[in-house]
Amino acid sequence: MTTYENILVETPVPGVGLVRLNRPQALNALNGDLTREVFEALEAFDRDEAVRCLVLTGSDKAFAAGADIKQMADTDAVTLFAGQDFTDWSRLARIHKPIIAAVSGWALGGGCEMAMMCDLIVASETAKFGQPEITIGIMPGAGGTQRLTRAVGKALAMEMCLTNRHLSAEEARHYGLVNQVYPVDSYLDEALKLAAKIAAMPAVAVRMIKDAVNKAEELSLSEGLVFEKRNFYLLFCTEDKTEGMRAFVEKRPPEWKHR
Ligand code: CAA
Repeated sequence: MTTYENILVETPVPGVGLVRLNRPQALNALNGDLTREVFEALEAFDRDEAVRCLVLTGSDKAFAAGADIKQMADTDAVTLFAGQDFTDWSRLARIHKPIIAAVSGWALGGGCEMAMMCDLIVASETAKFGQPEITIGIMPGAGGTQRLTRAVGKALAMEMCLTNRHLSAEEARHYGLVNQVYPVDSYLDEALKLAAKIAAMPAVAVRMIKDAVNKAEELSLSEGLVFEKRNFYLLFCTEDKTEGMRAFVEKRPPEWKHR
């Protein structure tokens, strides 16, 4: 397995790949090297047939306190435009397998945006979500104004981006940003359990569902329904469709081939 400087990578549960941000001295602030390593590790798991669900986490104190302000302080617009300092974050959106963000402590700025780019969020009771960019004279630049608005609605997203109002874990769950909230000593185990549950599902259907749900945020209803129907028809080509329906009829658990 590749070794990294700013992240830890393991497969703690069969079928589940875990990527842990590990820059504690800077509360996992996202500099170019860290984000590049995160995307490389996720892409490697995406290519690995033995892994079917991914978990992205930080420390109990900080998922990530945002983009690295010290690195950004010396960055100009042309350098950003050329993609030299900060990696292309759309690499995260192109991962096919479901990603669960296991968030504890600070998830600010780019940290909140990175969690929102994942497919599900499991939070600890100490998690705090916010978009504080306005306090350093800029604005969210990795999807904060767009994904947060879709997740929590315009009024709250506007308040968070304009005034640096943070959401507690419970508020984030209430508004639909977070799936589940647990005490700090169990949130990661619960995220891994949820990942194991998804990893035990037929992988081709999992991928088609992830694609279709994500399309709901981008397409009109009629376009989304066409996209859904094509994925639905496509699943009738899979061995797992034959096995799943046969197992139901024979009253036994299915044995997925993930094909
Ligand atoms: N970038 C660089 N370093 C950071 C950082 C960041 N985003 N956040 C924290 N750190 C560093 C601090 O500088 C400090 O380092 P030193 O010990 O060398 O001084 C270390 O991490 C610990 O931080 P604090 O002492 O500040 O810890 P705290 O517990 O007192 O405060 C905090 C925690 C409220 C999260 C505070 O650190 C903070 O406000 N951080 C910045 C949050 C922020 O503004 N994030 C948005 C960045 S912009 C962005 O993300 C743009 C985008 O959309 C992509």
